[in-house]
Amino acid sequence: MNSEQILSTFTSFYRERGHRPVTGSTLLPPPGDPVLFTTSGMHPLTPYLEGTRPHPLGGRLTNVQRCLRTTDLDEVGDGTHLTVFEMLGSWSLGDYSHSQSLRWGYELLTDGYGFDPGRLYVTVFGGDERLGPDTSSLRTWQELGVPVELTRDENWWSNGPTGPCGPDSEIFVWTGDGPPVSTPTGDERWVEIWNHVLMGYRRHEDGSLTPLPRPSVDTGMGLERLVPLLQGKRSVYDSDLFEPWMRLVPGVWGLSGEEPRRIVSDHLRSSIVVIGDGVLPSNTGRGYVLRRLVRRLLTVLWREDPSRTLGDLPRELVEHTRQHFRQEDGEVDVRGVLLDEERRFRGLLTRGRSVLSRPRFSGRSLTPEDFLYLHDTHGLPRELVEGLLDESLVS
Ligand code: SER
Repeated sequence: MNSEQILSTFTSFYRERGHRPVTGSTLLPPPGDPVLFTTSGMHPLTPYLEGTRPHPLGGRLTNVQRCLRTTDLDEVGDGTHLTVFEMLGSWSLGDYSHSQSLRWGYELLTDGYGFDPGRLYVTVFGGDERLGPDTSSLRTWQELGVPVELTRDENWWSNGPTGPCGPDSEIFVWTGDGPPVSTPTGDERWVEIWNHVLMGYRRHEDGSLTPLPRPSVDTGMGLERLVPLLQGKRSVYDSDLFEPWMRLVPGVWGLSGEEPRRIVSDHLRSSIVVIGDGVLPSNTGRGYVLRRLVRRLLTVLWREDPSRTLGDLPRELVEHTRQHFRQEDGEVDVRGVLLDEERRFRGLLTRGRSVLSRPRFSGRSLTPEDFLYLHDTHGLPRELVEGLLDESLVS
């Protein structure tokens, strides 16, 4: 199955079971939301999961939501972590039970996607000092014949320090070469692919829980984790999601290592999507996240060869990305934004190198006052100065 078929298998499965697709999957949360970017599929649905008002499309929903997480930025370059990714989600807003959600999840994974049931394992909330074990999920999985591991904190999902939360059940697939061994918490070759949360409580400032008037179910499955598993690939970069990137990037910029290739591809792909959703580089908020992504990838590109330029970014990569993320053509000049930021960054580096080579800075470490002066007088952010000093930026 290619990734588009994997996507449509998911949405068709839930549509056939009465779920309405939620449209509008932009990375930008609704006004008033304190978070910069949407970080999970359920995020835009938070008020409905709390049961404060009914969703206009009803109690059964499905969606493909693009998400951005900067918490994993340092892990980008391995086989699984991406900055922008997509979550396949299904929701029962006070409609069907958590147990029904697990049964459908099992059906889709085995009948729809063809996973061998013998390579599945699940985890279930085993109880803590506040609540007993999730016996309903335990029974459901036992009836389906799937082995269960009970945990505590790993199977409690919350949206943040306060807000909707509840016990969850996570589905793992065995990715080892031989037959499955151990349990999900005992062997990292068990890879989590899908989380089914029973959103049954609200957590308050003091940590106490009150039951929600109408429990809901929230599920989320990372597309970029699912696709390589179904395509028999070791990493997301070997799947069709990154096929044009891995084909074209080495030819354009000749990056020598696997990790730099992955970082450049992830950050560029993410930047294209962020720009496509209407963000411009700046020194604050969303724009700053974009600026960091672009500068980070330029740093990687220029480490080997400072003459490399985003002007060589192949059109096919921009188009492939915008098409995959279902962004309209031609609304935003993605290449223009990237090139502007490149020019600005190149200018800053030149200025930084020249200022730092002055006698007043030589042979000593910089003080907080120096950093302030460099920032206020020369527009050189501390992060950039430190990069120049430890030579992680082009010298
Ligand atoms: N909210 C859960 C998660 O993000 C399931 O969607 O994992």
